[in-house]
Amino acid sequence: MYRTNICAELRAKDVDKTVELAGWVHRRRDHGGLIFIDLRDRSGLVQVVFSSKDADLHLKAQELRIEYVISVKGRVVKRSPETVNKDMPTGEIEIAAESLQILNTAKTPPIEIADARTEPDETVRLKYRYIDLRKDKMRENLVFRHKVVKAMGDYLDNQGFLEIETPFLTKSTPEGARDYLVPSRVNPGRYYALPQSPQLFKQILMVAGMEKYFQVVRCFRDEDLRADRQPEFTQLDIEMSFVSEQEIIDLIEDMLKHSLSAIEKDIDQYRGKHIPKIDQAFPRLSWEEAMSRYGSDKPDTRFGLELVDVSDLVRSCEFGVFSKTVAAGGIVKGINVKGGEKLSRADLDKLEEEAKKLGAKGMAWIALSAGGMKSPIVKFFKPEEINAIVEKMKGENGDTLIFCADKPKVVHNVLGELRLQLGKKMNLIDNNAFHFLWVTDFPLFEYSETEKRWVSNHHPFTAPHGNWDDLEERFVKEPATVKAQAYDLILNGTEIGGGSVRIHRPDIQAKIFKLLRLTEEETKRRFGFFLEALEYGAPPHGGIALGLDRLVMLLAGMDSIRDVIAFPKTQSALCPLSGAPDEVNPLQLKELHIKST
Ligand code: AMO
Ligand code: AMP
Repeated sequence: MYRTNICAELRAKDVDKTVELAGWVHRRRDHGGLIFIDLRDRSGLVQVVFSSKDADLHLKAQELRIEYVISVKGRVVKRSPETVNKDMPTGEIEIAAESLQILNTAKTPPIEIADARTEPDETVRLKYRYIDLRKDKMRENLVFRHKVVKAMGDYLDNQGFLEIETPFLTKSTPEGARDYLVPSRVNPGRYYALPQSPQLFKQILMVAGMEKYFQVVRCFRDEDLRADRQPEFTQLDIEMSFVSEQEIIDLIEDMLKHSLSAIEKDIDQYRGKHIPKIDQAFPRLSWEEAMSRYGSDKPDTRFGLELVDVSDLVRSCEFGVFSKTVAAGGIVKGINVKGGEKLSRADLDKLEEEAKKLGAKGMAWIALSAGGMKSPIVKFFKPEEINAIVEKMKGENGDTLIFCADKPKVVHNVLGELRLQLGKKMNLIDNNAFHFLWVTDFPLFEYSETEKRWVSNHHPFTAPHGNWDDLEERFVKEPATVKAQAYDLILNGTEIGGGSVRIHRPDIQAKIFKLLRLTEEETKRRFGFFLEALEYGAPPHGGIALGLDRLVMLLAGMDSIRDVIAFPKTQSALCPLSGAPDEVNPLQLKELHIKST
């Protein structure tokens, strides 16, 4: 037995007990006659004292270095009032050591664990991840992640869901990214694809009568990485039979509220602040409204700065940029940057540069102040036109109005992005608020300029709204107006989940593939097994997948999902710890029937 107790559980009530502890040397101070160490295990720290009264023990303690692994036997003693450490839960006591065993030595760690003044480069952190994870924050992140996942799993278990595993060596599932392929040794020239999601298998589990499925599952997508994207990430994947969109949304909302409630104390302790309970229904916005008001399908509603349409007010103005845009079917929208007088001319020029980078032709602005308006464009407007614009945008002295005129897609993209930047720059975001929201009624299809055809907005198994039998007519008439029974869950401007009601009828599923201009041959090759399953009594079903890494990152108040993943990859999809991806032995390639170029 190495220990009788864990470090952080010892308190004043334990005084006079003899305990055995094991852990790492976190800090070490040599005060001549007394050597102090902070001993660390997963639970936290406790101070251990080696006195020169025991000369042999004191000599041995002199060997101790940071991160040595030791076990200590000693007596719990009360600290004198002036030496109590209020910052440490165990700060009222210390361990008077009676024996010491060095279980292992350690090289000087390349990452400071106890008193990190500087954060090393991320590659170093990932290469020595086992040291990086020893830091309080990183350990707490993993503990917190465990609690979030467990709370949601417990909820689903209570609701009668079964956790069922699905294969990793499988066929491609289209979720919009490239596949990771795995060559088959025993089937020359054939490849498995690692799943981008368990989408088809979970639907097949519904055909199999499982009714309520969930899985905490890894998904693999070969796509360009960002702070909230990893090549392998984890979903909380859910599918249900005999449910409507409303019931799925209600269940997820209930699950999140219950889970957050179950770990409320952990969240508050973790964030060092009380986060108010979420008891209202999550707001819902149609995709159209989200785009129109926030210029984004994942709006951050923690602050205002909404987009205001002024197209009607500038239709016949003298400012050609605006009036001609409207005449050509475009729109003019603006944002009232409240208190925007704080923005200098240089700030505005930088914003305009930013707008141009995002594809805008320019960014006009009007600064409102008691002394009158400053603006490069007011001279083109009649006073009553300007007044109408200011009134519609609720402009007051001290505000700055910014505008963008273009096709709706460009205007929304540009102003949506500027809105986010302004929210940060003007300090409008409450970092301790959780704003959940649903975006619904997505278009079923979107036009792909690169492929020159209509493609699925989500995946092709998503059910359309409205009557399924006249789908083809509706599509032919106006493809963009066909809406999907799909929903995304947004938290603080990040998409943390997405799902839909599925098509359970094989004839309609085949029709969708046809509308997507997949040939019958291709459909059969890629999805034949799935279409066949739908022919054997597929129940109506639907589901959702939550991006667990993103959800935990946001709840934990981290900026990157890499901080809540034990072994993440770098921006270039490398694992500095293991050195993957790696070159392989030519013999292995030969066995796999692969010729390297
Ligand atoms: P979707 O593709 O929207 O849906 O994925 C669901 C959620 O997974 C998260 N996510 C990611 N997180 C980290 N890194 C990535 N590369 C990454 N890609 C996605 C997001 C996203 O909302 N099968 C469907 C779900 C369904 O229809 O039931 C699916 O995978 O938070
Ligand atoms: P110009 O007449 O081109 O000098 O433009 C006058 C002002 O209108 C400048 O502040 C430009 O940034 C702005 N502007 C130009 N094109 C657009 C546009 N498409 N949308 C919004 N503002 C624009």
